[in-house]
Amino acid sequence: MAKVLYVTCNLKPVELSRSLSVGKEFLDEYLRQNPDDEVHFLDLYRDNIQRIDADVLGGWGKLMKGGDFASLATDEQRKVGRIWKHADQFIDADKYVFVTPMFNLGFPAELKMYIDAVCVVGKTFAYTPTGAVGLLKNQGKKCLHIHSSGGFHYGKEWDHSVPYLKSIMGFMGIEEFEAVVVEGVDAVPDQAASFIAAAEEKVRTLAGHF
Ligand SMILES: Cc1cc2nc3c(=O)[nH]c(=O)nc-3n(C[C@H](O)[C@H](O)[C@H](O)COP(=O)(O)O)c2cc1C
Repeated sequence: MAKVLYVTCNLKPVELSRSLSVGKEFLDEYLRQNPDDEVHFLDLYRDNIQRIDADVLGGWGKLMKGGDFASLATDEQRKVGRIWKHADQFIDADKYVFVTPMFNLGFPAELKMYIDAVCVVGKTFAYTPTGAVGLLKNQGKKCLHIHSSGGFHYGKEWDHSVPYLKSIMGFMGIEEFEAVVVEGVDAVPDQAASFIAAAEEKVRTLAGHF
């Protein structure tokens, strides 16, 4: 039985969102084929992700100098503890599905905040004399990114959404990565329905081997 972490980052209801609709299509088919798998849902707008702030940096600084957790101030303990919880939940998953809209050539800031919360030294990556290594390597973990944009950007040098997520997953050692993009839905509105249908077809197929 695999644990799937299904991460969304969208203020719209599913029926008004292209990416969430395609994501739902994927999940329905995935669960039809893997009924015993466990899915954990994270809605990054609702679930109040702990951002890296002065207390988190202060707490990490003390820990790095050899201080123990009890020596941290109350707010530092609470916030560092929350960051570790995000990271532990992330580590515990076998499969990751990120569903995002494009905002200004990237994805919404909430997802970057979440990435900052799960990239934790000693948990998801480590520094070595030869550089950083991903600690989630060789564990069979895999990631799917479902992403929608109004225009066409996938594969272009200015696209900072899918390529960035792929890089940061690789940084933590999650090297199996697939992306399904629903592009051009605002640029060519009369073809939006067919772009969405094509993406839904892709994710239904993908659900069989993810
Ligand atoms: C704040 C904001 C910024 C956006 N920035 C871009 C952009 O840089 N490029 C683009 O092609 N579309 C952009 N869009 C359009 C959305 O990416 C597009 O409508 C997408 O289909 C939204 O996904 P959703 O339907 O799943 O919410 C933007 C939309 C919003 C609300």
